[in-house]
Amino acid sequence: TDDASLVIVILGASGDLAKRKTYPALCTLHAKKFLPQNCKILGYARSELTNESHKGMIKPYLKGTEEEIDAFLEITEYVPGQYCLAGQGPSVFKSLCDKIEAHEDGRTRCNRMFYLALPPSIYPEVCANIKHELPTNNSGWTRIVLEKPFGRDLASSEELNRHICALYREDQLYRIDHYLGKELVQNLVVMRFANRFFSPIWNRDNVSNIQIIFKEKIGCEGRGGYFDKYGIVRDIIQNHLIQVMALVAMERPCTLSADDIRDEKLKVLRCTKPLASDNIVIGQYGRGVDADGNLRQGYREDETVPSDSNCPTFAMCVLYVNNERWNGVPFILKAGKALNESKVEIRVQLRDVPGDLFLQKAAPKGTQTRNELVVRLQPDPSIYMKMTVKEPGLETTITQSEMELLYTDKYVNAVIPEAYERLILDCIYGDQQHFVRRDELQAAWSIFTPVLHFIDAGGMVPEEYAFGSRGPLEADELRKRVGHVTNIIQ
Ligand code: BG6
Repeated sequence: TDDASLVIVILGASGDLAKRKTYPALCTLHAKKFLPQNCKILGYARSELTNESHKGMIKPYLKGTEEEIDAFLEITEYVPGQYCLAGQGPSVFKSLCDKIEAHEDGRTRCNRMFYLALPPSIYPEVCANIKHELPTNNSGWTRIVLEKPFGRDLASSEELNRHICALYREDQLYRIDHYLGKELVQNLVVMRFANRFFSPIWNRDNVSNIQIIFKEKIGCEGRGGYFDKYGIVRDIIQNHLIQVMALVAMERPCTLSADDIRDEKLKVLRCTKPLASDNIVIGQYGRGVDADGNLRQGYREDETVPSDSNCPTFAMCVLYVNNERWNGVPFILKAGKALNESKVEIRVQLRDVPGDLFLQKAAPKGTQTRNELVVRLQPDPSIYMKMTVKEPGLETTITQSEMELLYTDKYVNAVIPEAYERLILDCIYGDQQHFVRRDELQAAWSIFTPVLHFIDAGGMVPEEYAFGSRGPLEADELRKRVGHVTNIIQ
């Protein structure tokens, strides 16, 4: 209603994430008129910036016309200050409190969203300060958006949760995983459950293996301070890829409500056996040549990385979901930086067609090809089915072709929203479907914690692969061992 107001407080407003993701997403939402009326965006951080210099700092990252960007900057304001002042007086957020109250003045429903673009180690104290120093006494809501990394393992993640969940109810906590905001990830539930094609084959009788692949061309350039403490399994697989896997593997939810869907995801995660150390290959990139032919330094040569680091920048792991639908089907999760291409895909490989009717006809090596359903998240979002067909002509030559839905061809004028735009909007509207619930997070950490501890203790040393390559060859061997077949005819 007109009387309601919304304050979005971005804590960590001068940091990289805020600049690159949060502010641009808010700017686009504002330009598209998706932000409510009476909306104010307060940036808060320790840097002693003026309002003007902060605007100047975020402006280059914003998209839209000059008018749209100016109109957005009008509703933003920067407040410098500390996050925690142990033992130094009760009101660390005094200046923030004044600004919030000035905006809310006289309204009866004042909604507040706190976006924590901060190191998680200070989440508990910051959340406690928000709770105690920014009290509300009206009918508005308070929601907290939390960014990863949400802990380093099961125990540290639960420790964080214990603190935060003592202050806020689960329906106020929005743990962001931006992969859940991607268009093709959001399409998974629709694709799987609104069509008749997939459901009959979506099981161990028909599916040979499922790959969820994240490949990035860039190395960890300059981000070593963060990356080296976490590594690729925590940075990509334990959150983004396992969330995608849960949506691929889950049963049909009773309804489309946030909790019905998250209940189903949770069941998959709980049925997934903890990753065994013989089902993972880790790698670290060394020197190599990138796709543009430039010589690139190895991970350990990056000045932000310790020169003896054993941190994995590549991992392939094989998980098994111990339920009736998926028993024995390998879920191959692969993530790597500094590879030959940037691509994120889900590949559902079906079993061989029974019998060998066409085996002799297959070119070039007599290999029977398998059907594959590919959902490509990026680049060029698309869904395609690889299938075997007859090559046109007098001879019966077998080849592989695709039935393809390429988004840029089919939805020519559609603008695919940025994940962060969608997720911030969901938070404003109170929809938690695309946010990670505490129990899901717990289950996801349970799968990876034993192997992560094993790696951290030096139990495994990463295989070296060249910058710009496909990753370590050991990964291909692991994939083959669990039954994946590389289709020869591409
Ligand atoms: C982030 C990781 O969560 O996701 C980064 O910390 C990674 O290391 C990024 O580059 C990838 O996101 P996207 O949306 O570009 O695929």
